[in-house]
Amino acid sequence: MKLEGKVAVVTGAARGIGRASAILFAKEGAKVTVADIRAELGRETVRLIQSAAGESQFVPTDVASEDQVKRMVEQTISRWGGIDILFNNAGITLVKFLEETSESEWDHLMSVNLKSIFFGVKYSAEYMRQQGGGVILNTGSVSSFVGQLRTPAYVASKGAVMLLTKSLAVDYGADNIRVNCICPGITDTPMLREHIESAGDPAAVIRERTSRVPVGRFLTPEDIARAALYLVSDDSEGVTGIAHVVDGGYLSAAEYSSSWLPRRSE
Ligand SMILES: NC(=O)c1ccc[n+]([C@@H]2O[C@H](COP(=O)([O-])OP(=O)(O)OC[C@H]3O[C@@H](n4cnc5c(N)ncnc54)[C@H](O)[C@@H]3O)[C@@H](O)[C@H]2O)c1
Repeated sequence: MKLEGKVAVVTGAARGIGRASAILFAKEGAKVTVADIRAELGRETVRLIQSAAGESQFVPTDVASEDQVKRMVEQTISRWGGIDILFNNAGITLVKFLEETSESEWDHLMSVNLKSIFFGVKYSAEYMRQQGGGVILNTGSVSSFVGQLRTPAYVASKGAVMLLTKSLAVDYGADNIRVNCICPGITDTPMLREHIESAGDPAAVIRERTSRVPVGRFLTPEDIARAALYLVSDDSEGVTGIAHVVDGGYLSAAEYSSSWLPRRSE
């Protein structure tokens, strides 16, 4: 097992990428704090882990709140005696042109997607340093690299996540604390489904978006979780400050549609 004896916190672990990661980390031997604002689903993640003989606890946490993030870290340490892995994964999106965006919407999105990392690191880095090291993983996006239609606040937050990651990697390298970010492409999670279902013709949106992914499918939460496992385990011991893209080839083409593919002869 790759995380035997490790203690991990995964934020946004009630569903989607966070849930898949919490389950995989626990399967690999980690004791996992599931942190989320969605209590019912968060407890369900814990039950799923426990039913597979893993160790987990739910700590209700709004990652936009400094006090609650502090408590999330403290409850993890008091339960299991340390914190080895912090996966800052919770995130929200906002589909609006900038001029339609209110100041409170901007501030809330930045708090959940970016300030949460500041709080998480603020309250866990000292413990990690004292115990001789640790790993921090942040969730960026393909939007850490390129703009997207009608999501300026989200894209700005994810661009900042990537450079915050690099800056922290530089600051904490000497403390044996590695800091990386994982940058998913289009991933089939409740967040994506809600986004698609709000569109006029969900089936057409799925067809159009899938056609833009060279591997021909959306990523799964498990695809992202497996890459996250690499980044939080000793398999990536020499890796810090990177933005690890898991996107099925999405960012590799300036323009791409599977409908342009030449027909292959049988
Ligand atoms: N799904 C995608 O296509 C995609 C692509 C790139 C990046 N991402 C990023 O991956 C991460 C996970 O996204 P997902 O697709 O699994 O989304 P999701 O909405 O399915 O899951 C996100 C989880 O975060 C939790 N959350 C939201 N606000 C919170 C808060 N204030 N405090 C604590 N928890 C909170 C939600 O309750 C939910 O359980 C996000 O950072 C997202 O931006 C997703």
